[in-house]
Amino acid sequence: MSKVYRFPENFLWGGATAANQFEGATREDGKGWTTADTAKYEPDPKLRMQQMLAPMTTEKVEAALNDQAGLYPKRYGVDFYHHYKEDIKLLAEMGFKTFRFSISWARILPNGDDDEPNEQGLQFYENVIDELLKYNIEPLVTISHYEFPLALSLKQNGWADRKTIAAFTHYAEILFKRFKGKVKYWISFNEMNFITMTGYLAGGILADKNGDQSETQVNYTAMHHQLVAAAQATKLLHEIDPAAQMGSMIARIENYPATSKPEDVMASVESDHANFLMMDVLANGEYPSYAKRLFADNHVTLDITPEDRQVLKENTCDFVSFSYYMSGIAGGEGEETAGNLMSTKKNPYLKTSDWGWQIDPVGLRVSLNKIYDRYHKPIFIVENGLGAKDELTADHQVHDDYRISYLHDHIEQIGEALEDGVDVIGYTPWGCIDLVSASGNEMSKRYGFVYVDQDDQGHGSLARYKKDSFAWYQHVIATNGTEL
Ligand code: BG6
Repeated sequence: MSKVYRFPENFLWGGATAANQFEGATREDGKGWTTADTAKYEPDPKLRMQQMLAPMTTEKVEAALNDQAGLYPKRYGVDFYHHYKEDIKLLAEMGFKTFRFSISWARILPNGDDDEPNEQGLQFYENVIDELLKYNIEPLVTISHYEFPLALSLKQNGWADRKTIAAFTHYAEILFKRFKGKVKYWISFNEMNFITMTGYLAGGILADKNGDQSETQVNYTAMHHQLVAAAQATKLLHEIDPAAQMGSMIARIENYPATSKPEDVMASVESDHANFLMMDVLANGEYPSYAKRLFADNHVTLDITPEDRQVLKENTCDFVSFSYYMSGIAGGEGEETAGNLMSTKKNPYLKTSDWGWQIDPVGLRVSLNKIYDRYHKPIFIVENGLGAKDELTADHQVHDDYRISYLHDHIEQIGEALEDGVDVIGYTPWGCIDLVSASGNEMSKRYGFVYVDQDDQGHGSLARYKKDSFAWYQHVIATNGTEL
């Protein structure tokens, strides 16, 4: 008999998506271009990560916008824009209590800093939110998920410029006023920790506009601007809609020491510092003491004003959230394997996904405990899942027992963490309906409970088919996790 886990009565079971990978319709109803629209499909898998992390330039942006022949999958996603009613109905059928999606800034403010919002953009999201509420599904909204209005990148180098804080808070204020009373859970930025590594993806930064500053310096400056913007948005949200809550979010990478050698253990501590830095600021209201050395080691100097310190101090986040897919290794030597936006060393105790990411359910419990010990705030696990190659049978079935097994083992570890005393409030597996992969711009890597008929070249009927995991997750939710 397998163990029975007790999840809180109001536990928020659901799934997660992001506008740039899901919505499509990038040229419709007044939306402006975004940084995600320049992400071209690279046929060679070995070059994909490299392509995504390579610094972007104005020249490359212009080439992408003028490229008539290239394939840009994030421009069409899986067309949630026109399928939202059908998709939300499927989520409701699974029994979802919550659904995480993001709003595209350029759909609301096409140039990023327009005075007045694009009503058609606001109306689309209002339709989505109303449709969710119709089924009693709580919207969980990310304000900025890996896309940035391209006009603001070209005009002021994205988050490198302090003026972007004001543009963001203006955008956030529009959302809070419009969706007041309808959206209770907000997340300011997706996976904030990646800004220090990927200036364009996470911050809309163009390398040719960095002047004589190093890329690291510019990325850290952008990080500081995002932190201040997140705190200002929290302040605004609490003023406009006091019942609503703001979360901060990172991509949690649980990096174990390579060995018990003290230097490897220290490397793991340093890896945590780099990973938790932004959440430490937003949850605790100030830069942690280790930041001084971390900045010095990276040759970074930040302009942190007394007003910045005050807004951070007075507006900490209400809950913390993170994505968790895999664990890695800190320190030591050894063979490399792929991971979430970065490679890591192989852990001999773990299996890997088709994409080389190390599968480690216990690592989720380790992370949950560490995060709760660190912040004592409610935790929302807002991404988790297995990117896998699925096969659609002739009768439109997908037998994804590998996905069920991955999710089963991770949910068990959430159950264990709840017994450890960790306050976990919800769980939204990634890509609950198949969507375009963030790192590979491909469809072959699928996470969903629902299969979408579309291939890497953008061919397919876009029909939605339930995978075996659909009924399995439906049962998990119906039994509130007691029957996995
Ligand atoms: C997270 C992102 O890093 O991982 C998502 O927030 C992304 O946008 C997910 O899709 C999975 O990564 P990938 O590259 O497999 O799509």
